[in-house]
Amino acid sequence: MKGIILAGGTGSRLYPLTLATNKQLLPIYDKPVIYYPLTTLMLAGIRDILIISNASDMDGLKRLLGAGEHLGLSIIYKIQGRPNGLPEAFILGEDFINGEPVAMILGDNFFYGHGLSGLLTEAIKTSAPCHIFTHHVDDPSRYGIVVCDDAGRMVNIEEKPVHPKSHMAVTGLYFFDGSVSKRACELLPSPRGELEIVDLIRTYDPVSITYLGRGYVWFDAGTPQSLLAASHYVEVIQTRQGDYVACPEEVALRMGFIDKSILEKALFTMPTSKYSDYLKRVAHDYH
Ligand code: DAU
Repeated sequence: MKGIILAGGTGSRLYPLTLATNKQLLPIYDKPVIYYPLTTLMLAGIRDILIISNASDMDGLKRLLGAGEHLGLSIIYKIQGRPNGLPEAFILGEDFINGEPVAMILGDNFFYGHGLSGLLTEAIKTSAPCHIFTHHVDDPSRYGIVVCDDAGRMVNIEEKPVHPKSHMAVTGLYFFDGSVSKRACELLPSPRGELEIVDLIRTYDPVSITYLGRGYVWFDAGTPQSLLAASHYVEVIQTRQGDYVACPEEVALRMGFIDKSILEKALFTMPTSKYSDYLKRVAHDYH
């Protein structure tokens, strides 16, 4: 499966933080926001990745992640001229997708929980044409919201409903089959002038749904409050457990994308920091 990280947008809810930089380059605690969705794709076993963002933010993203060799990945980049909606990723990425199954993750989405890697690889194995991941939210009018029947089948999906019919939000991680680009090309903009992800999901029947229940944390780090909450969460986990959250070099090593010598080579050029100290320990303890 291929992977797309949609990392553009205006970041208006984070203004003025996003005046001079891209939201995905801001920190969640000690790492750039994009490390979190990137490692989620990596934990799903995805190595072929397209990052879509604004022209003005490309240099920063490329400086951060390059072509991905140090992580055993292939990363390419594509510019989105303006935020025309999430499904545009599949139109801009049509050549990259090349009719194959693809996962898309929003650049500000952060998932964490025991067994996440297994849950994602299981979802891929089902080869469902459309697979979404849901999570309970207290403020449903901020999200895409689904309603399921007693058998767990999706019966309704709406974007930011004024009168939400459930509290089950569609998270920013989607798996689609190879027909997704063609379907995205056929969508029409909504009254707010964007192509809507819920309209794309609606073209599939049935839709597979994995509910991320207790034990899974999901943040959409699009507001100052959620960015701070995610940062506090990562700080607590890392300090209490001693394991880093969303450390791409470590994930690459543990997933077998790179061997220890590549990590050691990367460490050679890394400035002395808590991050490099941690990775030295990871490399030392890894067998
Ligand atoms: O986070 C989950 C939610 O993400 C879902 O529940 C909603 O159904 C989905 O529409 C989306 O809602 P948001 O209000 O968070 O979407 P937003 O416009 O903020 O875009 C999400 C990310 O995608 C953000 O990092 C900016 C980026 N983006 C967005 C658009 C519309 C792009 O790169 N290009 C775009 O055209």
